[in-house]
Amino acid sequence: MTELLTETAVQEPQRIRGLEMPWNRVMGRSDTPARAARALGPWHPQEFTAECVETIPEAGGLMTFVFRRCDGAPLAFRAGQYVNIAFPVNGGEHEPVDRSYSLSSSPTEPWTFSISVKRDAGGLVSPWVHENVKPGTVLEMLGPVGAFHLPDADRRARYLLLAAGAGITPIMSMVRTIHSLPGHADVVVLYHGAEAGGFAFHRELAYIASVDSRIRVFYSLGDRSKPDGWDGLTGRLTSAMIDEVAPDANGRQVYACGPEGYLNNATELLKKVGVDDTSIYMEFFSGDRQTLLEYAAEVALATDIAEEIAEEIADSAEDYFESQPAAFGLYEPRYDADGTLEATGLPLEAVDADATSGAEANDGGSGTSPEAEAETPDASSFNTVGTGSLTLSFMRTGINVRIDPTEPILEVAQRAGVRIGANCKEGMCGSCKVVKLSGDIDMNHQGGIRKREIDAGKFLPCCSTAKTDMVIDA
Ligand code: FES
Repeated sequence: MTELLTETAVQEPQRIRGLEMPWNRVMGRSDTPARAARALGPWHPQEFTAECVETIPEAGGLMTFVFRRCDGAPLAFRAGQYVNIAFPVNGGEHEPVDRSYSLSSSPTEPWTFSISVKRDAGGLVSPWVHENVKPGTVLEMLGPVGAFHLPDADRRARYLLLAAGAGITPIMSMVRTIHSLPGHADVVVLYHGAEAGGFAFHRELAYIASVDSRIRVFYSLGDRSKPDGWDGLTGRLTSAMIDEVAPDANGRQVYACGPEGYLNNATELLKKVGVDDTSIYMEFFSGDRQTLLEYAAEVALATDIAEEIAEEIADSAEDYFESQPAAFGLYEPRYDADGTLEATGLPLEAVDADATSGAEANDGGSGTSPEAEAETPDASSFNTVGTGSLTLSFMRTGINVRIDPTEPILEVAQRAGVRIGANCKEGMCGSCKVVKLSGDIDMNHQGGIRKREIDAGKFLPCCSTAKTDMVIDA
């Protein structure tokens, strides 16, 4: 047995060039892919139920919950994406509370999937999840969602993965994915934690780094005190630290996930070391992360961030999806640098407001939002733009838009300067969801909205056309 322990020179494995996700070739095919391949394609979010099959305590107050879909299908997703989960925190008879959690497992093992939840003592959902979700628990889910993910194919595959605290979750999915695939890759992980014993997944990361020469992992303690035996880095993220772990950072795609302050700092530092905006992908992460696109308070934050840097990067709304630069990550910029998309199309000359029809602010029907009830602006006083046989009244923007019944509502709204976020523009991601106050639509979505949201009056304007005059809470 001694020779097994003897150090011998072992050659590097021979690998194909670059990194390619297993489903990538299916995407490029024009004919219909085989059923199995289709099932593994991460293109369409779906509503499904999943059963918890395992819980795994992790360091740093995280708990990993492993699930399998109740319908037996694999869960197709991209490494870095998340699922939106309905948690019955107030009991089964009350509306569940939705939260989004990044997937921490690898999509190359799609028969089960996991989320890793940090317990936030002051949070509403995460303590409930830790205490109540056990093997056998079945939850409603929607996913996969999110544009913060590894590319489907990358001939260079050189990454710098930055994680702080629970932000390691989607980064872990990326590391596991790369480790599980053949192909040349060069990955540096820099993982910040608050205390030496608080690095989740550190055993697995150490193992992966020890057997996979493509992946190197560095740890740093956020404060500068160095406990006995600590041989990692100390201190917050700095440009010197980035240089130390990845002197060629400006040749890498950078994926960063962590709290807002950490990511804001990282954005500045990455610029300093020469990383171009277009090579940076970020995801904000905090405890019970609420999807900014779906929760009003955080939508406001996302909008601010988007507006600050939109000037530098946004030439057109079409460029947003799949190519977000720094700080956009999951959260799509909603507008161009001028705040609207007026320059891109619909003629905005005002027409006679008296000629508009069906622009009642509040029809008193179901789906009316509390805000609209409180304000009840008078749509007949709004400017009216565009031509067409139907009128859409956008109550928050204060504009009436004439529309042809065949035109997707989102396109026309954005051209008229109505602020509606959009990502996939195919009814998949849910990012354009708005409330319909009155009127009828024809919606052809692909999983981006739940039935109960539709019942509550919401719709996806990207994949909807108007059947009647409408009043919209946007
Ligand atoms: S933009 Fe994705 S669902 Fe409308």
